[in-house]
Amino acid sequence: MCGIIGYTGGNGDAESVLKQGLKSLEYRGYDSCGIALTTDSNIEINKAIGCTKNLSLSNLGSSCGIGHNRWATHGKVNLENAHPHSSLNQQVVLVHNGVIENSEEIKDFLVNKNYTFQGETDSEILVNLIEYYYRRDLTPTKAIKLAIDDVVGTFGLAILFRDKPETIYGLRRSSPLVLGVGENEHFLASDANALPYQIDKVVYLDDGQLVILNKKKFAIKNLSSDKDLEGLSKIKKIKKRKNDTELGEYSCFMEKEIHSQPSSIRDSITGRFNEDFSCIKFGGINLNKINRVVFLGCGTAYYAGLLGKYYMENIAGIPASVEFSSEYKYKNNPTEQGTLVVALSQSGETIDTLEAIKEAQNKNLQAIAITNVVSSSIARQVEEGIYQRIGPEISVASTKAFTSKATLLLMLAVQLGRHHNISPLESIGYIKQIRRIPELVEQTLEHRDEIRELAAKLQLYDVMDFLGRQYMYPIALEGALKLKEITYMDSHAYASGEIKHGPLALVRDGRAIFFLASQASLKDKNISNMKEIAARGADTYLVKQKSQEFPEDTYSEALNIPNCPDYISPILSVIPLQLFSMYTAQFKGKNVDRPRNLAKSVTVE
Ligand code: BG6
Repeated sequence: MCGIIGYTGGNGDAESVLKQGLKSLEYRGYDSCGIALTTDSNIEINKAIGCTKNLSLSNLGSSCGIGHNRWATHGKVNLENAHPHSSLNQQVVLVHNGVIENSEEIKDFLVNKNYTFQGETDSEILVNLIEYYYRRDLTPTKAIKLAIDDVVGTFGLAILFRDKPETIYGLRRSSPLVLGVGENEHFLASDANALPYQIDKVVYLDDGQLVILNKKKFAIKNLSSDKDLEGLSKIKKIKKRKNDTELGEYSCFMEKEIHSQPSSIRDSITGRFNEDFSCIKFGGINLNKINRVVFLGCGTAYYAGLLGKYYMENIAGIPASVEFSSEYKYKNNPTEQGTLVVALSQSGETIDTLEAIKEAQNKNLQAIAITNVVSSSIARQVEEGIYQRIGPEISVASTKAFTSKATLLLMLAVQLGRHHNISPLESIGYIKQIRRIPELVEQTLEHRDEIRELAAKLQLYDVMDFLGRQYMYPIALEGALKLKEITYMDSHAYASGEIKHGPLALVRDGRAIFFLASQASLKDKNISNMKEIAARGADTYLVKQKSQEFPEDTYSEALNIPNCPDYISPILSVIPLQLFSMYTAQFKGKNVDRPRNLAKSVTVE
C-alpha cells in the first residue's frame, strides 16, 4: 500500500503543500518517496529513499504537482523503483497505489514498441502504456481510458501530462482516492486525513471515475460511459479535529493512542444506549433472525474478531467463527440462512477484507462492517455498519482501534443476545459494566511506570511467549503481535491449555512467558498451567485482576488490572501488553510508529 497526493492551485507553493501531505500519508508506506512538479516546459521529479524529510528542496515555485509514499510490492527499495515514474519520452508522469497483475504482458507489448524501462515496477509500465496511446494524438482522457482497459489489477492514480502543466488526472479501481475542494485550489489524496485542516469539502471517488482538476475547477467523468458526472452534487463536508494528527506531549503516536483509549472507547459507546440504559442501539442495522455470525479481518482486526467469537458464543449463545479475510475470499464458505458477516477494519481500506465482503455478498449473506473511516471503500461496500468514531489511528501498530472494536463487539453480542437468551435485567447489567470501561482503562493506565520498568528489565530477551485461555487467548495473540510488529522480537501465543501438547518443549530455564490470568472464573485451570511451566523453569509475568491471588512460586512479577467482570477483563488486559511492547521497542531504539516492512492498512492482495 502506498500514499498518493496531488495539488494544483496557490501561488507557487505546490512543493511545500505536497510535502506536508506526504508527511501525513507516511503511515501508508515509508520505503521511498517522491514528488513531481510541473513548470511551463517540463515536469521535474525529485525522489528519496525513506520518508519525506529526506527529499531535497527544488524551489521551482510550481503551482501543480503530485507526490507518493512507497510501500514496496514490485521491485527493490531503490531510487529507480521510487515514484513518481516518468514515461520514456517524459510526456507523462504518474504516481500509483495498487498492483497491476498483467504488467509483464504489457511490458512485452511495449518492449516490441521500443520502450525501455529504468526500474522493476508495474507502475512504470503503466505510465509508458498511457504515453504509448497518448502519442497516437489522443486526448489525455482517451489515452488513459485505453490504457486502463488493458490493465488487470488495482489502482489509485494521479497523472500529469507535460503539455498540460496546471492539470492533474486522477482515477481509482479498488484503491482509495479522494478529491479535496478548496478556494482556487484542488487536491487529490489516498486519504482525507492528508488534506490540509482547512479543506473540509471532499468528493470520495468511485471505481472507474476519472477526475480532471486544475486550480479553478474539477470535472468527474465515468470512464466506461464517457459521461460527465455532476461533480458538485458529490461534495461532502467532513469534520476534522485540529490535534488529530499532532503528537502533543507524547513521544510517539502509539503512546498517544494508547493513552487516548478512555476517551476513544467513550466516543465509540456514547449515544448507543436507549434513555434508561436497558438496551443497546446500533442505528439502522437489522439484527433480527441472526443465528450465526462470521467475523472477517486481518492482523489486529482478526484478533478482535476472535474475541467477538467468544462474546457471541458465551454471551449471546450464537455460534460464531472468525476468518482471515485473505483465506475467506478463496474458499467455498457455508451459506446458512441467518448468517451475519461482520467485517472488521480500522482503515476500511484493507483490500483482503474488502474482497472477502464482496465474496460474502456474492453468497447473498448479510454483511455489515465495523470501521473507523467514514466513506472508506469498506464502509461504502456494505449497506449497514458501525463507525468506531475514535479519530485517525496513525501508528502502524493498532491499539485504540482494538479496544474500541472489542467494546463494540461486546455490545453487539449483548444486543444479539437480547434476541436470543438475554433478559432485560441481564442487558441492564451488561450495559452498566460496559459504561464503566473508560474509567477502568484509566485505572489500568496508572500502572504505566511498573510496566516501563519491566520492559527495561526484559529488553534483552529475544523471544517471549504469551499464554491465555478463553477471553485471554485472543489477547495473548494480540500481545504477541504487538511485540513482533514493533520490537522485531520472536514471540508466540498459545491457548494456555494447549501448551502441554507440544510448545512446552520450548520452555526451559529463563524462558520469558506472559501469562494472562485475569479471567477470574478460570483461576484454578490457570494455576495448574502456571505450575506446569514453572516446573520447567519459565520466567512467568502475570497479568491478573487486582484482588486475585496466585501461588508466589508460580510467577516472577504481576501486572494488575482493576477488578471487573470476566467479559470486561480482555479489554483491560491488552493495555499492559500494548505499553510493554511500546516501551521495549523504545529501549531497543526502534521506530515505534513506523516499523520496518509494515504499513497501516494494506491495499494490495
Ligand atoms: C495491517 C496493520 O497492515 O493491517 C495492522 O499494520 C492492522 O495494524 C491490519 O491490524 C488490518 O488493518 P485494518 O485497517 O483492516 O483494521
